[in-house]
Amino acid sequence: MIILKSKEEVEKIAVSCRMVASSLLALKAYIKPGMTTKMLDTFVEKKIIDQGGIPAFKGYRNYPATLCVSVNEVVVHGIPSGLVIKEGDIVGIDLGVIHDGFYGDAAVTIPVGEVSDKVMHLLDVTEKSLYAGIDQGKEGGRLSDISHAVQCTVEPEGYSIVTDFVGHGIGRSLHEDPQIPNYGDKGKGPRLREGMVLAIEPMVNMGDPEVTILGDGWTAVTSDSSYSAHFEHTIAITKNGPIILSQV
Ligand code: MF3
Ligand code: CO
Repeated sequence: MIILKSKEEVEKIAVSCRMVASSLLALKAYIKPGMTTKMLDTFVEKKIIDQGGIPAFKGYRNYPATLCVSVNEVVVHGIPSGLVIKEGDIVGIDLGVIHDGFYGDAAVTIPVGEVSDKVMHLLDVTEKSLYAGIDQGKEGGRLSDISHAVQCTVEPEGYSIVTDFVGHGIGRSLHEDPQIPNYGDKGKGPRLREGMVLAIEPMVNMGDPEVTILGDGWTAVTSDSSYSAHFEHTIAITKNGPIILSQV
């Protein structure tokens, strides 16, 4: 069941989302080669708590950290650790916050130092596919219009869409209905309505779409070790079109 949110509830989600967005922005300035992924987690956890937020992923199904930090061939759900970030890495950062009972969720993939043009293109296309999806977040459209727009941005570039993970509704829970695949025909699924709040999150691999989960039960890597990118925004559907809540 899709839970529609009142204007007041959307504003509460927006508060959580702004904490996410400002922390991700601060992290972009902070991240440097030589840092460990754990240092990033510590930095952001403090920022969230200082703003009165609660890290949403920590403890979610026993996930042990504030951030998911997914480097290079890691698709999503990388656990912060002693892994040292190097010049030329791409670092996916996914962050969720709870404040006043409502969740916000967003992710970016950050290029560290000089990254090859080939890899930068993967990031550009993945981010572009997110915005193409968001643009379809129009009242009266259908959910799969979002999915289709993502797919149509990614596949002509020769990249592959990860199908094992999907976007989701968000509100008083991190994951609500509907699930939002990053592929599909348009014109299918529930009609988009004012009051829907959706986390759209394309995951795009440079090589094959297959994903393998490592022994920690979380870390999802590309099965062919190709690089992977992930961008996510939480948006609200309104009569006047989509509003991106997770940006500052
Ligand atoms: N943005 C991801 C999602 O919506 C992050 C979840 S990580 C977890 O699924 F640790 F909370 F599971
Ligand atoms: Co999400």
